[in-house]
Amino acid sequence: MSPDVIISQNEGVLELRLDRPFKKNAVTIAMYAAMADALQAAEHDDAVRAIVFTADGDMFTSGNDLADFAQAASSGSMAALADIVRFLHVLAGMEKPVVAAVGGDGVGIGATLLLHSDIVIIAENAKLVTPFTGLGLTPEGCSSLLLPKLIGDKRAFMMLALGEPLGAKDAVDFGFATKLTSADQVDAEARDAARRCAKVPPEAMHITKRLLRDKEAIRKAIDTELHYFQQRLASPEARAAFAAFFSR
Ligand code: COA
Repeated sequence: MSPDVIISQNEGVLELRLDRPFKKNAVTIAMYAAMADALQAAEHDDAVRAIVFTADGDMFTSGNDLADFAQAASSGSMAALADIVRFLHVLAGMEKPVVAAVGGDGVGIGATLLLHSDIVIIAENAKLVTPFTGLGLTPEGCSSLLLPKLIGDKRAFMMLALGEPLGAKDAVDFGFATKLTSADQVDAEARDAARRCAKVPPEAMHITKRLLRDKEAIRKAIDTELHYFQQRLASPEARAAFAAFFSR
């Protein structure tokens, strides 16, 4: 288990708490591996009836740890990214309900993870940002398929191609998030929502999730995006962007 993700279980709810606030909760490969393991185990554990993602500090997460990306780009080996791919597929395939408590800005995976969350409680001051192109990268996490469906093609372009942030109120109004609340209430409301999910008969819940999500289309989109994303990671555009970030 990664020390930067705190995993706990209470009243049928498994909580995954990003706990790397000094790096704005940037998600390392070890953190992806720990979360993928926990989600995989939860799918087969009858005692777990719902999942909550949350985070410590003032941000939900600043996205993938750019040091890991820079390392993969310079080594030319994408094998190190296997746990990121595993996490995306496990999360996207979850039959148990997933709730996200977004207490601050969500960048990159901090935004795309929400596309696979069934309930998103978001703080009034939070913003969601997908800065892929500015980093020389392209959309991930099925955002190219799911984001336009949720918020419309034009707004999805502004987010995915121009990196324009989406404020919390707009996220709720456009259907990207479920409920706006104050930052200090985000965790409590997310846990309440998860406990409510946990009380629903599980088989009925799982079938409902299956009906609501076209898993095959989602899986295919994740893999298509990854095909380009991995090429982009090693590109001169991306390498220059990573170097610029670390030489600020
Ligand atoms: N990967 C690696 N390290 C990161 C990081 C990331 N995604 N986001 C933040 N950090 C680190 C910073 O390098 C800094 O480390 P240091 O204290 O050792 O120098 C620390 O976290 C604090 O970040 P800082 O940039 O000083 O905080 P800020 O409040 O000024 O800015 C952000 C916050 C999120 C706007 C800014 O850190 C940022 O743009 N991060 C990159 C976001 C990104 O592009 N993510 C990838 C998406 S695919």
